[in-house]
Amino acid sequence: MNSTNIILTGFMGSGKSSVGRVLAKELNTYFIDTDALIENFENMSIKEIFETQGEEVFREKERYCFKWIKNNVKNTVISVGGGFPVFIPEIKEAGIVIYLRVGFEEILKRMTDEEIKKRPLFQDIKKAKELYLKRDKIYTDLADIIIENKEIDQTVNRIKEALWK
Ligand code: S3P
Repeated sequence: MNSTNIILTGFMGSGKSSVGRVLAKELNTYFIDTDALIENFENMSIKEIFETQGEEVFREKERYCFKWIKNNVKNTVISVGGGFPVFIPEIKEAGIVIYLRVGFEEILKRMTDEEIKKRPLFQDIKKAKELYLKRDKIYTDLADIIIENKEIDQTVNRIKEALWK
């Protein structure tokens, strides 16, 4: 994998963390997730950060996280929050960017109520769909590789094939 990070992007609920965990294991490396890094650092959930400090402050924390990754992390599979590449288009400076694409209706089908509750920007389904449509283009434009994420093992194999090409 050289020393390059593999960065998984995509909308909320597109399976970045699930795919990332399996991919990292197959590549014999570690998996990290920017939301989890931020939650650990702040000792607060993403939902609490949004509620008590607002989205703007959360985006600053993501920017700080990006700088830390760029300066300190290599050879790692990284899953980033759905808004990360939208607010930090320089994301490519930290690794190969892979967009895990899933249709909005499919995301709705896959997400549990519990998973929806954790995500402040997924509380209003109509607004979430508008956000999805806007972001699909941004994720596509920023990606080095685009993979339709239907099923984890198939997705992981497709990523590996695309990386070895
Ligand atoms: C967000 C996505 C979330 C989390 C935060 C904001 C977004 O991450 O970073 O709730 O703006 O799309 P997931 O993509 O892991 O749900």
